[in-house]
Amino acid sequence: MRMRNKQRKPTTLHCNAGSRCTLSAVVWSLVGCILILHLYSLVHQSDGNERDIQERLNHLQLSRELEEVEEDNDFQIPPPRGKRSPRAVKRRPKRATSLIEEFLDESSQFKHLFFPDKRTAMDPRKEVEDDNHYFYPGRIWLDTDGNPIQAHGGGILYVEKSGTYYWYGENKDGPTYHAHKKGAARVDIIGVSCYSSKDLWTWKYEGIVLAGEEQNETHDLHKSNVLERPKVIYNEKTGKYVMWMHIDDVNYTKASVGVAVSNSPIGPFEYLYSMQPHGFDSRDMTIFKDDDGVAYLVYSSEDNSELHIGPLTDDYFDVTHIMRRILVGKHREAPAIFKYDGTYYMVTSGCTGWAPNRALAHAAESIMGPWETMGNPCVGGNEVLRQTTFFAQSTFVLPLPGLPGSFIFMADRWSSADLRESRYVWLPLAVGGAADQPLEYNFGFPLWSRVSIYWHRKWKLPDHWKGI
Ligand SMILES: *[C@@H]1O[C@H](CO)[C@@H](O)[C@H](O)[C@H]1NC(C)=O
Ligand SMILES: *[C@@H]1O[C@H](CO)[C@@H](O)[C@H](O)[C@H]1NC(C)=O
Repeated sequence: MRMRNKQRKPTTLHCNAGSRCTLSAVVWSLVGCILILHLYSLVHQSDGNERDIQERLNHLQLSRELEEVEEDNDFQIPPPRGKRSPRAVKRRPKRATSLIEEFLDESSQFKHLFFPDKRTAMDPRKEVEDDNHYFYPGRIWLDTDGNPIQAHGGGILYVEKSGTYYWYGENKDGPTYHAHKKGAARVDIIGVSCYSSKDLWTWKYEGIVLAGEEQNETHDLHKSNVLERPKVIYNEKTGKYVMWMHIDDVNYTKASVGVAVSNSPIGPFEYLYSMQPHGFDSRDMTIFKDDDGVAYLVYSSEDNSELHIGPLTDDYFDVTHIMRRILVGKHREAPAIFKYDGTYYMVTSGCTGWAPNRALAHAAESIMGPWETMGNPCVGGNEVLRQTTFFAQSTFVLPLPGLPGSFIFMADRWSSADLRESRYVWLPLAVGGAADQPLEYNFGFPLWSRVSIYWHRKWKLPDHWKGI
């Protein structure tokens, strides 16, 4: 989290891998694109939203119920009463940023929109025919003991042998405070929670598998420090479960990654050490294990201005000396990587602290890059929802084994005033159809498939998702 507010537009366009266009070609392409965009916005000003969605509909192969485009008019501020004249209200509809301000305002009258209360919780203990196994993004999600799930900035490990999913994340079930005036909102390190499930909806609490340190102030996991975005992968060669996480001090100056290991998916994990990978600052991060067993670390570096990627050692305990800089100058964080049909994809967020911003999808033929930016993957809802990643920030993309090309996009809806109240936004993600933002796009080949994250107020996995 933290750092820069603005992400810069890319300043160069690439004609094909490696070679640059001549300057005039770049300029004329830009002029052409701007003219087209301008015309488009003039023509489609009033019915832009519907058209936009309709066009996307045409591009997509809507073969499954997961990929239905659902509009949402709940996330809107009603026109203000009093102050403004009715004409002024008519002329200028409330801008999108207002809803973001409401989102960040602890005492907003619209809080229930973003953070619905206990009464609407997803509760696996209730046998409600119509509601069981439905995901409601943003609602409180209870575990099988009836407690709200505490697994923020999380990731999921699938253990095929037992058909079990393990969800690891930050336990933020403590008071939110500011360590000093300029400090970000924080909760002391409690530890990494683990939950297990076979259906991805009913989650059993397996406890804190890596605990914060109460006493030892020099320890990385001392409660006064920062532990974020824990991710676990399994090493077939060593039979160990290896956890990587962002380790920092209260001011985010340590900027390191930590590594822990366990013989069991449900811990306990033994904390090994922290380091600055390849000698660089490392904040938001993730790890990705490829089909060939090689695992990679991806982290925001150089003050979050770029990402770095590199393979781990065979035992997954360390990075190697190989590293590439990717998305240089783009200021992206919260990376979530997945692979489909031989192509690598990544969803990232901008860097605006706890405030939500627009997601971007990226693609690459080789995981080490070059990575191309394809545009905003969010589909449906409304303009504000799409521009804020549905008021959430990416953390992980989970493949659905029985549904090739279908994934669950996992994101955090941060409640900066009370971080333990942060919610989970899980939505279907699909790969398919042509990418739709040519401006930020490689004009040559290959043509990547579009990544789409579909907004739903309520959705469930199709019955055959396990694919047996
Ligand atoms: C405190 O933590 C540091 C760093 O992990 C370690 O070297 C030291 O032995 C610990 N001290 C105690 C008393 O456990
Ligand atoms: C964090 O920053 C504050 C304000 O600049 C300072 O007082 C404090 O000592 C710093 N703490 C650490 C652990 O660096």
